[in-house]
Amino acid sequence: MAHSKANWSEAIVTGLPAIDSQHKALFDLAASFRGNGDQIRVMHTLTMLCEYANTHLRDEEALLEKIAYRKLAEHRLQHQEFRRMLSRLLDEARSLTLDQIADRIEELINGWFYHHILTVDAEYVADVRRHQAAPSSGATTDPR
Ligand SMILES: [Fe+2]
Ligand SMILES: [Fe+2]
Repeated sequence: MAHSKANWSEAIVTGLPAIDSQHKALFDLAASFRGNGDQIRVMHTLTMLCEYANTHLRDEEALLEKIAYRKLAEHRLQHQEFRRMLSRLLDEARSLTLDQIADRIEELINGWFYHHILTVDAEYVADVRRHQAAPSSGATTDPR
């Protein structure tokens, strides 16, 4: 599915500093592809971006696991799709031009990932905050 593309902005700030700094770092890495004419450097940056993306997805899933997030399974599926798209790009990159790689990165980060943060990540923020405010009270509120 094609998503409209956007740069990192306040619109996708979750207010959770550890998450926000990882999200921002991925946009910064993605922005470094344009106008970068060196094949070796581009492959190196692409590898770094894929590794960093995987670190973020893993950290985020660990956080959601810790709070027993009710939509974790669906969230994981979305992350799996992102991992697949990233590893496909890593596999194909050697046969692509630098402009094609930059286009694909833009689709993945400024398109897919932006949209994921705006819609899917945004959904867990309230649950994480609730857990941070009362970590010992458990994931559910017992009405009794
Ligand atoms: Fe996510
Ligand atoms: Fe995220």
